[in-house]
Amino acid sequence: MRSTFNNDADSDPGAWRTFEARLTREWERLFRLLFQLYGHEYDFFFQLEQVLVLAARAWFARPQSLRDLDERREADPEWFQSQRMVGAVLYVDLFAGSLSGLRERLPYLKQLGITYLHLMPIFDTPSDANDGGYAINSYRTINPALGTMRELAELAKILRQEGISLVLDFVCNHTSDEHEWARRACVGEREYQDFYLLFPDRTLPDQYDATLRPIFPALRRGSFTWDEGMRRWIWTTFNSFQWDLNYRNPEVFRAMAAEMLFLANAGVEVLRLDAVAFIWKQLGTSCENRPEAHLIIQAYNALARIAAPALCFKSEAIVHPDEVVRYIGTGESQLSYNPLLMALCWEALATREVRLLAHALRTRWKIADGCAWVNYLRCHDDIGWTFDDQDARQVGIDPYGHRRFLNAFYTGEFPGSFARGVPFQVHPETGDGRVSGTLAALAGFEHAMQAQDAQQIDMAIRRILLLHSIILSIGGIPLIYIGDEVATCNDYSYVNSPTKADDSRWVHRISFDWNKRTRWEDPQQPEGIVYHELVRLIHLRKQLPALAGGDMTVVDTGSSHLLGYIRQHRGQRLLVVVNFSETPQDFSANRLRLYGMGYQFQDLNSGMEVNAGATLLLAPYQFMWLEARAE
Ligand code: GLC
Ligand code: GLC
Repeated sequence: MRSTFNNDADSDPGAWRTFEARLTREWERLFRLLFQLYGHEYDFFFQLEQVLVLAARAWFARPQSLRDLDERREADPEWFQSQRMVGAVLYVDLFAGSLSGLRERLPYLKQLGITYLHLMPIFDTPSDANDGGYAINSYRTINPALGTMRELAELAKILRQEGISLVLDFVCNHTSDEHEWARRACVGEREYQDFYLLFPDRTLPDQYDATLRPIFPALRRGSFTWDEGMRRWIWTTFNSFQWDLNYRNPEVFRAMAAEMLFLANAGVEVLRLDAVAFIWKQLGTSCENRPEAHLIIQAYNALARIAAPALCFKSEAIVHPDEVVRYIGTGESQLSYNPLLMALCWEALATREVRLLAHALRTRWKIADGCAWVNYLRCHDDIGWTFDDQDARQVGIDPYGHRRFLNAFYTGEFPGSFARGVPFQVHPETGDGRVSGTLAALAGFEHAMQAQDAQQIDMAIRRILLLHSIILSIGGIPLIYIGDEVATCNDYSYVNSPTKADDSRWVHRISFDWNKRTRWEDPQQPEGIVYHELVRLIHLRKQLPALAGGDMTVVDTGSSHLLGYIRQHRGQRLLVVVNFSETPQDFSANRLRLYGMGYQFQDLNSGMEVNAGATLLLAPYQFMWLEARAE
């Protein structure tokens, strides 16, 4: 292979040696993975060589500053375990208009303490419906309304200088129907028709549909879309304009690998693997979480280790908790969303009971060494109740009825509910559904503000802070959905937009209202309390070594309303206690001494001194970060 790169290798022998060393290290693994996936192809060795050539090209094109980063990350592969890590996710257009606007808004993110910034899809998309950017026309062209590729690379560099890692999506399951590959398929180019999954009649689509889970059941039936021009059914798991890629075709693997390494070379440090559970199809199965999907991600991981080692993956697998963890590993995705913690925090808030949450944390928290959860409370998608049915039964909960209750609660239908969410994709036959809504709307802030009820506003603020206190202290990277830190409420105007009206997720994809600055900057205003308290908590987190890493032990609090866990790291030990109810709750002195390992404590959150001589009383929705004081 060296001969292909003689020029590069001669002019930069050091770079060649580095490449060779990394290739040697990863070679066996990469070969094995690709052989399992594509070894039966008649031109397998040709394909393999093409993949290696691609990796070498990407490496020689990699800017020096990123090669330096590669070395730093190789020396410290667990860099993201630091308690200094705090994530944020935002839409560039809704937050700052454009990439250059975002640069001007960096001081806001710095003040919040952000070190990991996920920009929602910013690539060229169809101009009408585009699933919030998840229908991509080109992985190499920024949506012209937002900026250019050069601006993105520039931004990545500035962020890095500021200690912020850039995170973008790798929308690897599908392209838009306007992507060049799709267009070429449409005009009859066989090579590109093989990039997708096309069927001349309903025979196979019907067979597949029989076992597929409809993702948007309220929009349409089945996972296939008829194309009149090609006279073919196209596999479209999500919207009709999002065409699933055919990963059985090694050319697709290679083409997408090239896009991945291109993004890495633009300065992206973490790629969020969008809808990763769906990338491999197998007749007679749900076509989710197939073993081959894992092999593909592992092969991409190996390629990244060779050509762009600083790159990490974050899996977006919003699936059953048993499956979520299978994507996590240093050889696959180092980071993963934690949809279970997200869903169960809301579950505990609705029920005021932590039984299910504590049980799930006890049995399902631990993940592979060297990897981290990304803990979030809200994202741009709906909330689905993805807990395990058996877990629920074990703590005396009927899973089916409970999901119904949670939907009713969070859409505000349940009597006395504080939440103001909106139903998402209710299945016309089963009645199953999910929920949309901003964090503030779901936590009761919207309702309380409308009612101008001071006591309810106070309760809602406490809920918002409680939820954030958990992601900030439990272990892993906390991820804040920008807007939540200033208690932004739902925006119902999406119903007036023909391309958004049938997708209620737009109710919580809000445009950031900089005119409200006076409200969140004022610590007397409800939004100001939320903002100032959150900034304080974030900065507190960053100072506490105990909050690094992901080791966490749930403790038995003796109360069904109190969640308790221990965080211990680098010589510091914290006992966290959280009251999920709106009434005061006791935590016994014995337990405090036992789990806190001391007698005299300080709650690092409030600064309050706590003595284990008496029962500890937690106020409504209060949380404590307790550290034993040397006596
Ligand atoms: C992911 C995204 C979601 C999108 C889907 C299809 O799940 O989070 O917003 O609709 O993939 O790309
Ligand atoms: C499903 C998918 C998830 C996607 C979501 C969009 O839950 O599993 O990937 O984000 O639908 O609504």
